[in-house]
Amino acid sequence: MSVVQADITTLGVDAIVNAANETLLGGGGVDGAIHRAAGPGLLEECRALGGCPTGQARITGGHRLPARFVIHTVGPVWQGGAAGEPLLLASCYRSALALAAEHGLDTLAFSAISTGVYGYPAPQAAVVAVDTVSGFLEASPLPRHVVFCCFSGPSADLHREALAALAFQVPDRAP
Ligand code: APR
Repeated sequence: MSVVQADITTLGVDAIVNAANETLLGGGGVDGAIHRAAGPGLLEECRALGGCPTGQARITGGHRLPARFVIHTVGPVWQGGAAGEPLLLASCYRSALALAAEHGLDTLAFSAISTGVYGYPAPQAAVVAVDTVSGFLEASPLPRHVVFCCFSGPSADLHREALAALAFQVPDRAP
């Protein structure tokens, strides 16, 4: 796992993960940036998918993007933290990882799901992201490399801190 500060539409990875909404018909933020860079073919392909429930993920081609595929996931809207948001956010990361593994993808780049318009507190979201990806990769050989692609410095720092904290977690050893 690694952290970069970049525009995710520029990454030449196997798949980038889009923070979409349940219609999958585009929007602002990273969703808007990905659709602008991918071109109209992405929206056409998304239309045929008929939407995506929160916490789940769908895969499309990358169209004009350098990435081969786009994995669209729908994060939870933050409602204070007692409406199952952490579990739904973890489910976004896990669903996207499972799709990448199913398609035999090596490299996957995540945007910081739900931390923009959907208002999920960035520090908590970064911990959910890193912990969920780490847990998945312990049990799955693919994807080989996961990049947390953060748009801002503070977002990148939060993901680096969450990764560092992971390194200090002593694995549970059988007595
Ligand atoms: N590359 C990488 N990250 C980006 C980019 C980009 N080009 N543009 C924005 N981001 C970051 C934001 O800074 C934020 O940290 O993506 C993260 C997610 O923010 P949003 O795009 O607002 O997504 P989210 O909070 O999940 O809200 C989803 O917003 O755009 C609409 O259609 C989308 O309705 C959906 C909602």
